[in-house]
Amino acid sequence: MSGETVDGSARGVHLSASIMCGDLGALRDEVCRLEESGVDSLHVDVMDGNFVPNLTFGPDTVRMLREATRLPLHVHMMVTQPERLVAPFADAGADVYLFHVEAEPFPGRLSNQIVNSGMVPGVAINPFTPVGPAADLALPYVLVMSVEPGFAGQKWIATTERRVGELREAVGSASVIGIDGNVNLEHAAGARDQGATLFVCGTSSLFGRPNYHAAVDEFRTRLMASAGVR
Ligand code: DX5
Ligand code: ZN
Repeated sequence: MSGETVDGSARGVHLSASIMCGDLGALRDEVCRLEESGVDSLHVDVMDGNFVPNLTFGPDTVRMLREATRLPLHVHMMVTQPERLVAPFADAGADVYLFHVEAEPFPGRLSNQIVNSGMVPGVAINPFTPVGPAADLALPYVLVMSVEPGFAGQKWIATTERRVGELREAVGSASVIGIDGNVNLEHAAGARDQGATLFVCGTSSLFGRPNYHAAVDEFRTRLMASAGVR
């Protein structure tokens, strides 16, 4: 496969690096290393201490990331009332705004608000949330959580592959389907076989490796080589 694909990846496998798993004491250097690694985007986990029990980044961090890189910035909004943060994150330079369906009673209205702000909308769904409402929205991105959100380093939830398959069946080619949480090569390959094309790379596949470029290259090559083999 060659050329730019609908999800912005160069070769049909979109790798999104989860910046919360990086060295936060040297964020600019980390962003440079990630840009050189060949990832397709940065995944920015925004947690409000309310929707999830953890706290991470706000729009100022996204603004700094925007200044540091040309990579697309995907903000994963693990927050209540995600409609309140659309304008600040759009102003800060976010490209894709992923809100949780569990946090939003009016997801259609919110999606329009995101589009009007100049960002691309996507919906994230927790592991035990039915896939139907997210599928019905048919947004450009659906992010299937393969762990309960809030923390890096958790264990893969084994229903993820089936849920990805159900979503793919329901949305056809309307949405890019991604997975987030404990995405190693084995889990990515299983989800890819069910229709996932975007993979959030955290501690399970990228961070902690001595050479990001080699890690990204190997992950992408092995994932593509295993297509249809399983
Ligand atoms: C989980 C986060 C993920 C996580 C992925 O709430 O959304 O982005 O950092 O990293 P690992 O591979 O550690 O699960
Ligand atoms: Zn995330």
